[in-house]
Amino acid sequence: MTSIHAAAVPGSRSAELFARGREVLVDGVSSPSRGPLNFRPHPIFMARGAGAEIIDADGTSYVDLMLAYGALIHGHAHPELVAELQEAAGRGALFATASEVEVEVAERICAMVDCAEKVSFASTGTEAAMAALRLVRGFTGRRTIVKFEGHYHGWADAYSVSSNPLPPGAYGHPNDPIPVPDTSGVTPGALRDTLVLPWNDADRLEALLKARAGDIAAVVTEPVMANMGVIPPAEGFLQAVRELTTRYGVLLYIDETVTGFRLGAGGAQERYGVTADVTSFGKGLGAGLPVAALAGRSDIMAALSGGRILHYGTQNANPLLLSVVRRSLDLLTADDGRAFTRLDQLADRLVAGLRDGIARAGVPALVQSAGAMLQVYFLRRGHESVESIGGARDFGAHVDLDRFNRFAHLMFAEGVYLSPSPALHSVLSTVHTEAHVDRIVAAAGRAFAQLADERR
Ligand SMILES: Cc1ncc(COP(=O)(O)O)c(C=O)c1O
Repeated sequence: MTSIHAAAVPGSRSAELFARGREVLVDGVSSPSRGPLNFRPHPIFMARGAGAEIIDADGTSYVDLMLAYGALIHGHAHPELVAELQEAAGRGALFATASEVEVEVAERICAMVDCAEKVSFASTGTEAAMAALRLVRGFTGRRTIVKFEGHYHGWADAYSVSSNPLPPGAYGHPNDPIPVPDTSGVTPGALRDTLVLPWNDADRLEALLKARAGDIAAVVTEPVMANMGVIPPAEGFLQAVRELTTRYGVLLYIDETVTGFRLGAGGAQERYGVTADVTSFGKGLGAGLPVAALAGRSDIMAALSGGRILHYGTQNANPLLLSVVRRSLDLLTADDGRAFTRLDQLADRLVAGLRDGIARAGVPALVQSAGAMLQVYFLRRGHESVESIGGARDFGAHVDLDRFNRFAHLMFAEGVYLSPSPALHSVLSTVHTEAHVDRIVAAAGRAFAQLADERR
């Protein structure tokens, strides 16, 4: 079981692998957030997962709260999903033809998600979001989209604007937000065609739609901000976005890459009572495999018919992967969706335990959650009285990024794995138990006490 964390010790297997990895991989890893940006002195190399635990290259086991950035809704190597994958592999990996399983999975998605009348499969959340972008533009004949500060929709140019955490001044005045490219290499055209707004602010959205609705193809939103920790929508905000987009004749694209098949059978749309025109799924849909989907109203999706608006892909609806997805969705809908009730109950226990640990340690921090997604925000000096983080500007103004990173490293040493970036978040899976939650709470209690000592 959990042993003392060996990965940060010089001479550990992770240290050796990192030294080798740096010779042949950029930053020694395969995505910047996994590398030296977030991990000290180096990332922990993982070797395997089992249920709610992940085991590193030195054999140390951790309760996994990151779960592949939320993808592993049933944890690691769920026996039923492994059996399904093994059986499907014997029938062949890929046909790139029509197949029965794609019909069966699409039928399930349409039954589960209110706005999903037609489905088009892709491989990753980024890819599905790119297909959604082309669809809303092609369908409306308009080029401009509205996205919100701090929302991430994958790394395509059109969405790579004002997604990253920034110091508050960098966003400009909320009446005239400054669009900030997330990266070099974004074209001026992409920047011109993406308008940004602060989230959770229906008045500013209305002002923009009043002035520019005729140019705007869609308003694009995460239903819960999941790339600045966890920021739930303000009461009535999503309904206001729905009402305004309908009133001004603009499409509403809700990106459920994170929230789909995680916050409920019908995703965040069901949870918050809002229906998009177009939506997309990734992470939870694939249960750890690269499966994503674009879905929506059938009159809009019909625009993809015959390739008039193109969405190609050799790997679209890969039958090997979809066999697993079919079983995963059946597990989620079994017993009237009991899995989601249980996830919420476990998350309530974890959130209450973390809040209690924070209060007992006297460390200035908040916990925000939506279903089984949660994040701890440590507050900067002078910002201790802040009661909630409501958007990217609050995040930039109040959140102590370094303290969160320190917290994550203390948790690694306690045998709990989570993303060390404060902009990401923790999740639970259907195979976590009360005992796992209690272990996490006990570990976090010790970490909070240590952080309180360090702050004095
Ligand atoms: C809301 C949202 N959309 C899209 C994506 C991109 O998904 P992927 O990493 O599978 O390309 C992410 C990834 O974190 C996301 O959080």
